[in-house]
Amino acid sequence: MGSEQRRRVASRLARWASRLLLLLLLPSAVASRPAGPRIVTPALGEKRFRFDPREGHIVLFHEQGAPSVFVGTVGTLHYYNFENSTSFTVLVETNRTLSNCRKQENAKNYLTLLEKYEDQLLICGTNACSPTCWNLVDGNVEPGISAQGLAPFAPDQNALVLIDGKDIYSTIRKHQYNGRTPRFRRIRGSTELYTSDTVMNNPKFVKAAIIKQEEAYNEKIYYFFREENPDWPKNAAAPRNVSRVAQLCKGDRGGTGSLSAAKWTTFLKATLLCVDSDNDRHFNQLQDVFILESANWSETRIYGLFWNEWEYSAVCVYSVGDISKVFRTSPLKDYHEKLPPVRPGQCLEGEQQTPHETFKVADSHPEVARRVKQEDILFYSKHRYQQIGVHRAPAADGGTYSTLYLATDKGTVHKVAVLPTGANNVLEIQPFLSPAGIRTMTLDSERKELFVASESEVVQLPMAMCGAYKGSCESCVLARDPDCGWINGRCTSVYDRDQHGNGTLLQALTHNPVTDICSSPSHTKGDDNHHCQIVTVAPGTRYYLNCSIKSHHATYTWLRDNQTVSHCGSGHRHCIHFIDNMTDELYGTYSCVSQEDWFTQTLVTECLTKPSNVKMLLEEPRNKMAKDWATQTSLSLWLGLLHMAAVVLLTH
Ligand SMILES: *[C@@H]1O[C@H](CO)[C@@H](O)[C@H](O)[C@H]1NC(C)=O
Ligand SMILES: *[C@@H]1O[C@H](CO)[C@@H](O)[C@H](O)[C@H]1NC(C)=O
Ligand SMILES: *[C@@H]1O[C@H](CO)[C@@H](O)[C@H](O)[C@H]1NC(C)=O
Ligand SMILES: *[C@@H]1O[C@H](CO)[C@@H](O)[C@H](O)[C@H]1NC(C)=O
Ligand SMILES: *[C@@H]1O[C@H](CO)[C@@H](O)[C@H](O)[C@H]1NC(C)=O
Ligand SMILES: *[C@@H]1O[C@H](CO)[C@@H](O)[C@H](O)[C@H]1NC(C)=O
Ligand SMILES: *[C@@H]1O[C@H](CO)[C@@H](O)[C@H](O)[C@H]1NC(C)=O
Ligand SMILES: *[C@@H]1O[C@H](CO)[C@@H](O)[C@H](O)[C@H]1NC(C)=O
Repeated sequence: MGSEQRRRVASRLARWASRLLLLLLLPSAVASRPAGPRIVTPALGEKRFRFDPREGHIVLFHEQGAPSVFVGTVGTLHYYNFENSTSFTVLVETNRTLSNCRKQENAKNYLTLLEKYEDQLLICGTNACSPTCWNLVDGNVEPGISAQGLAPFAPDQNALVLIDGKDIYSTIRKHQYNGRTPRFRRIRGSTELYTSDTVMNNPKFVKAAIIKQEEAYNEKIYYFFREENPDWPKNAAAPRNVSRVAQLCKGDRGGTGSLSAAKWTTFLKATLLCVDSDNDRHFNQLQDVFILESANWSETRIYGLFWNEWEYSAVCVYSVGDISKVFRTSPLKDYHEKLPPVRPGQCLEGEQQTPHETFKVADSHPEVARRVKQEDILFYSKHRYQQIGVHRAPAADGGTYSTLYLATDKGTVHKVAVLPTGANNVLEIQPFLSPAGIRTMTLDSERKELFVASESEVVQLPMAMCGAYKGSCESCVLARDPDCGWINGRCTSVYDRDQHGNGTLLQALTHNPVTDICSSPSHTKGDDNHHCQIVTVAPGTRYYLNCSIKSHHATYTWLRDNQTVSHCGSGHRHCIHFIDNMTDELYGTYSCVSQEDWFTQTLVTECLTKPSNVKMLLEEPRNKMAKDWATQTSLSLWLGLLHMAAVVLLTH
């Protein structure tokens, strides 16, 4: 994150207070405790460790399935085990008395890489502009492998390291002052290779991954980046930056010529498009990528988080099969001759090297003409999401659903369920004790947990925070969180089998639930959640309806029987609808609905009835309301949340 971005994040933090959040916050007295590792275990199952912030710099390592994390800061490595509360801290300070740094502020050891490599924890840091790696052995750090290409000379936003068995790939420069053109290299394992300086145009790297295939020789490396568009400004309509996916063969053996011997010979790149075709909105700036692996490689899904020039976000999904097909079949951009017999980008079996004529064509025409279109655009939103994680799991209703975790720039995480009816924001989670930006977020799909870190805390959260919907069967089911369902009078996690034994959790994810889904005797209600507050108003009198504004980013509307009667923009504290003189046609069901991007919530519902006709009207609006209520997906949740926030504060 650049300092400009950080500043903007900070200014947005100030706007927090006005927003409706899932408050996992404890009372402020707790936040001022001395720093140092500690766990707090509040109501929804999260656990946290706190540590001394060091210049806002952190790197997190979590191994899938482990109950622990490693956190690297400046000169310090912390280990935290969330299961048994053990922790330790190791100093990894620079031992250099004379620093190589031109800027004195860099003369420290910024830890930049924590990874498992050859069964050990590899720790690499800038070590005062002399990159160094260590291993963690019995709680001590010992000298490790050469850090060339593994750690930068100073903190660098464009550093990407990918470890695959013995092989290590990196975008980090090997020398301090020369070789400024960013390259993607293989630095360890098989022969060292690097990308030609002409194939990328000032790239910003986002993510790299290995994509296995049926045949070992066909295994690929995909990496994702943004770069300056070579077509801009020649073509004024072209975007200034474009997002790309690059493909390399893992078995690439370099070229046959002396100039190409140490270069990748299988590099090709393609544009990644993320477009909402309904309104032709383009999202050109890739921010983050999450790869959801499938047993069949071609069904592996790539989730791309993009921004447009207004910094709206969108999430687009690609299948590896589609990307692979574009690389296999597309002509090369601006290349009009016949392709050589070995196609550019083709992986070769055994000891074969890419023929020189193929390398020459690919090296001068590294971009394929066809662009990779998304399989699906899940949504777009005003929120400037920073990071994405995706979990896919079977729900209790027999379907399998994807759930996205999106880190906002305001220190919150949105949990978004991708349902057949569309993306549904089911929770906004504020994980930290004190408002802070999210530095890094990791999903553990084995443990069904989320690890979120700020510069001074790391929090472990269960994916299923069903306690947030505890109020009633309706609030549990209508939240439409694939991880939660109603059984035995509780909103329960689908992963918590002890709690439901042989019973089936009640869920309604694929459709708008019928109104009485919760009324069967086996699903006894919790608190009776009144959907409609009955108010008797005498004819000829005045009445007003009041709806508090919780978010200045939302619009608020009062509806009568589903028709808009008044609308409040931002700037008001309360959205009030006045009735000067009550008449017959003004009776009915009034609801205040807020809309913010794809959040739609009904905040208040009042059924205005005539004094003599209470009974008659009571039946009709309640049913009607229930129907409306069901179509407004996440509304009940917010009521649940308010309730829950109150509970959390009370219990501490
Ligand atoms: C905590 O768990 C870790 C492994 O998960 C183990 O190595 C350690 O000994 C445990 N510590 C205690 C105090 O139980
Ligand atoms: C600093 O530490 C590295 C690795 O642990 C070691 O190789 C080097 O000799 C040390 N330098 C000094 C000046 O102590
Ligand atoms: C994209 O464009 C902006 C200016 O609008 C620039 O600051 C940025 O560095 C460009 N490059 C990439 C790769 O995003
Ligand atoms: C993998 O998925 C693709 C696309 O759905 C399909 O065409 C192919 O047959 C599958 N391969 C295997 C081995 O199941
Ligand atoms: C599940 O059903 C089996 C057989 O119907 C029964 O023996 C068992 O006790 C049940 N388990 C629970 C937790 O209800
Ligand atoms: C309210 O409306 C009724 C019917 O239109 C009318 O008779 C009555 O005078 C009105 N009252 C006021 C206070 O305007
Ligand atoms: C509207 O409701 C809010 C919150 O309940 C309250 O503070 C405010 O005074 C009310 N406004 C009016 C005009 O009643
Ligand atoms: C009323 O609500 C239904 C769905 O509940 C919707 O289909 C219909 O368009 C709405 N009517 C108006 C006038 O908004």
